Amino acid sequence: MRVGILGSGLMGGKLGTLFARAGHDVVFSYARTRKKLEGLVREAGRNARAGTPGDAVQEADAVLLAVHWSRVPDVLRQAGDLSGKAIVSCSLPMNAGNTKLVVAHTSSGAEELAERVPKARVVAAFGTVPSEVLFSVFEARGKSTQPSLVYCGDDARGKRTAAALIRDVGFDPVDAGPLRIARYTEPFALLVAQLAYEGKGGPELAYRFERFGG
Ligand SMILES: NC(=O)c1ccc[n+]([C@@H]2O[C@H](COP(=O)([O-])OP(=O)(O)OC[C@H]3O[C@@H](n4cnc5c(N)ncnc54)[C@H](OP(=O)(O)O)[C@@H]3O)[C@@H](O)[C@H]2O)c1
Repeated sequence: MRVGILGSGLMGGKLGTLFARAGHDVVFSYARTRKKLEGLVREAGRNARAGTPGDAVQEADAVLLAVHWSRVPDVLRQAGDLSGKAIVSCSLPMNAGNTKLVVAHTSSGAEELAERVPKARVVAAFGTVPSEVLFSVFEARGKSTQPSLVYCGDDARGKRTAAALIRDVGFDPVDAGPLRIARYTEPFALLVAQLAYEGKGGPELAYRFERFGG
């Protein structure tokens, strides 16, 4: 697939690198400096290049949205027309201090995003995983039981695209249902962050999901 990365920080930088290493054509965009994007391209290898948000979206089969919630309006404006695109969003609707969700209970960041880009195929995925574990999960692909990763969305094609990307990173994709399920996965992501960064076990413990039975 051609994958456009909107937001090339901890999540976008790592996921984009892994998508490229898995064989997808990746365009990194939306860092504060061009130098940052070029560094990521060197790390990610020959399937990656740097561009503007418009470049990232133009030919993309899938778009990863990985910016702070406060940057979503700006990056969407720069990205341009997202009609028909699968948008895989890991962006959580956090306040400026990243201490609480600013959308919750009766809606979710993912649902608000879908309202902003009604013609796109929005899927919520990767928001429940700490960026620190992504490379280890990728390296362990095929070697052991894969950790589960939940995703949700209302568009079947968007969900197939997201599931393929989730699998390529090394997770077992678990379809949690329609996009409104993000009302539960987004607070769950805060629990994961609490375990990862304030508990004793670190990010690996926070994402020790195991399959029951086989
Ligand atoms: N980190 C995690 O483990 C994790 C896990 C699950 C979900 N999430 C969610 O994923 C989203 C991205 O998180 P992240 O940790 O990847 O964030 P991040 O490291 O801060 O990355 C954000 C990206 O946006 C870019 N950006 C462009 N213009 C910006 C501006 N004016 N101000 C601030 N940033 C600007 C940053 O540029 P630079 O590269 O130049 O800084 C960076 O590439 C967030 O919604 C977060 O809640 C994060």
